[in-house]
Amino acid sequence: MKRAVIEGGRILTGEVKISGAKNAALPELAASLLTGEELVLRRVPRVKDVETMLELLLELGGEVHVGETVRVKMGTVRGDPREELFRAMRASVLVLGPQVARFGRGEILWPGGCSIGERPIDFHLQALRKMGAEIREENGRIQAKTRELRGARIRFPRITVTGTENIMMAATLARGETLIENPALEPEVKDLADLLVRMGAKISWDRDGLHIEGVDGLHGAEHTVIPDRIEAGTFLIAGALVGKKIKISRCMPSHLQAVLEAAREAGVEFQEGEDWIEVKGGGQFRALEIETREYPGFPTDMQAQFMVLLCFAHGVSTVKENIFPHRFRHAEELRKMGCDIEISMGRAIIKRVSKLRGTQVLATDLRASASLVLAGLVAEGRTVVEDIYHLKRGYENFFGKLKNLGAEIKEE
Ligand code: EPU
Repeated sequence: MKRAVIEGGRILTGEVKISGAKNAALPELAASLLTGEELVLRRVPRVKDVETMLELLLELGGEVHVGETVRVKMGTVRGDPREELFRAMRASVLVLGPQVARFGRGEILWPGGCSIGERPIDFHLQALRKMGAEIREENGRIQAKTRELRGARIRFPRITVTGTENIMMAATLARGETLIENPALEPEVKDLADLLVRMGAKISWDRDGLHIEGVDGLHGAEHTVIPDRIEAGTFLIAGALVGKKIKISRCMPSHLQAVLEAAREAGVEFQEGEDWIEVKGGGQFRALEIETREYPGFPTDMQAQFMVLLCFAHGVSTVKENIFPHRFRHAEELRKMGCDIEISMGRAIIKRVSKLRGTQVLATDLRASASLVLAGLVAEGRTVVEDIYHLKRGYENFFGKLKNLGAEIKEE
């Protein structure tokens, strides 16, 4: 297992360019299953989850070319992808909706993913059933079959990002109209909708929800993936903690408003333009009360990283996790470095400490890993983050980018 060794206390300065968003690229690659023509995606981040999705498409019989752009052509679907591809990543569920819609059948294995608590896919399956698919679950296999998908009125029991994406994709080729009454509004969902419209889908949003009018077929398209707002947010925290001045470029601050608002309230000094943020470190921080929410609320994917900042804030901060109530495994590891964090009833209570000490910690999920690296950058001495595999699932060249800014990190 790989580990990262971080020498704390280095001051970062310079410019970092943000990569394409993993959580937009994943459903967009799955959308290639909706057409026999080629899909060309630009700015696809080179991260492990994307690699897993590309392997999945390849093993389903697709033609995949990875170069400056990623090109995928799914002439037809055959083959039985390896089980570990489904287990490696929860987003593998995204290949189900498009397959049933185009071929009348699809099969996935029970998906895996980060250890951030239970993550069922019952909403995806219920919605597909409502659209006329027959679903069988047996020995960890989920098969969906139908002669024809029909448009339906869907109201998820709670808002779901990949659920909205899966059903939106399925609905593009269903007969009649589908209305998703409480769709996820994350920028990644909107970006997928933009791609689907380029492929010939009929999609619109209004106060009732997300309307998808089924069409007979979709065609190939070219599309550029939006910038990764969570990567930008992670560098914002790095800049606030140990930055002299960091320019975060090629990002979209408009997608990060809840995080920027919280940062401003906490006393982080930054300026923003249309596609950049410039952050200065060394300030004094104020305690905050944060609650994670669906977009446009404060994202659960930034909670762990923000918590590191709050460890240095004057006063007592609280972070309530409403999306994945058990997503606090980083707190235990951060405590080993000297953080004063207590978890009680889905809430973290964070008290100020004056410094952190480097030690050996274990990365448990993607964003938890990022928070440990941030803590390592600001800690005194050497931090060893074990199992950085998780980090590679979602951050493109994270250590390389940090090193360019002046961090001292080695991978072993
Ligand atoms: N839920 C169900 N049943 C379902 C689907 C969801 O009970 O069938 C529950 C979940 O357990 C959770 C809530 O609904 O409590 C919302 O989960 P959602 O379905 O929105 O999460 P997701 O689609 O599985 C995506 C991102 C996550 C991100 C969440 C929340 C992708 C590939 N993943 O997951 O990203 O945390 O939305 O914004 O888009 C990450 O990048 O680190 C990451 C975990």
